[in-house]
Amino acid sequence: MASSAELAGRTAVVTGASGGIGGAVSRALATAGASVWMVARHGARLEASARQAGGRAVVADVADPAGAEAVRAAVGRPVDILVNAVGSFDLAPVAETSPEMFSRMLDGNLVAPFLAIRALLPAMLEAGRGHVVTIGSVAGRRAFPANGAYSAAKFGVRGLHAVLDEELRGTGVRATLVEPAATDTALWDPLDPDNRPDLPPRSAMLAPERVAETVLYIVTRPPDVRIPAVAVERS
Ligand SMILES: NC(=O)c1ccc[n+]([C@@H]2O[C@H](COP(=O)([O-])OP(=O)(O)OC[C@H]3O[C@@H](n4cnc5c(N)ncnc54)[C@H](OP(=O)(O)O)[C@@H]3O)[C@@H](O)[C@H]2O)c1
Repeated sequence: MASSAELAGRTAVVTGASGGIGGAVSRALATAGASVWMVARHGARLEASARQAGGRAVVADVADPAGAEAVRAAVGRPVDILVNAVGSFDLAPVAETSPEMFSRMLDGNLVAPFLAIRALLPAMLEAGRGHVVTIGSVAGRRAFPANGAYSAAKFGVRGLHAVLDEELRGTGVRATLVEPAATDTALWDPLDPDNRPDLPPRSAMLAPERVAETVLYIVTRPPDVRIPAVAVERS
């Protein structure tokens, strides 16, 4: 476990911070002493999550370049830790996936982390330190029926991360991809998994706090340790 001051003086940005994993990550980073800037599109839910974590809310759509730039401007100083926990989820067989849904999955899961990295990475490189943690998914490594659009985005996230990881060697900036299995958050609410035999029940899912503990472990490693990727599953 990180001590309560291990991240004192560090600035963190968490996108998707009103949600299950991003909210839990924000609380974990703030508890470890970081100043946490929490990003999501809908103000009321974000404000509640920010109050709970003791973080600062920034209402922005990071799937839009202007939104990602607004986050950079709001923070106003180099960021030590960026956690891309932004994302959205929908299911349909490929033959029934609408172009709108496909674009929505790419925007929310792949374009959004790309734009946040693009906005915040130059200052990290200039400072010669920083850590980019991106939440991918088990669906970025494995094929599940009806996950075509989501999986295309999450496989894309894995590709983006792998290239970034190579580019960052020797810069002092590190990148880690965290790929959780099913996690009990509001992301599942529209799908009602407890009443669908094709989906895992909530009781078999990870708690978002378990993913957050993993992220905290990653960002508190000494500078000479690289953790390129971590899979998190329920035992
Ligand atoms: N839950 C799982 O089973 C699971 C498993 C593996 C991986 N993941 C991944 O983990 C990440 C977090 O998922 P979660 O389960 O915590 O989902 P969640 O509870 O639905 O939270 C998603 C968060 O992203 C925000 N968001 C969505 N689009 C955004 C945008 N364009 N700009 C800014 N914020 C945006 C949402 O707030 P607003 O709607 O207010 O913007 C919310 O705060 C996602 O990348 C997801 O794919 C989840």
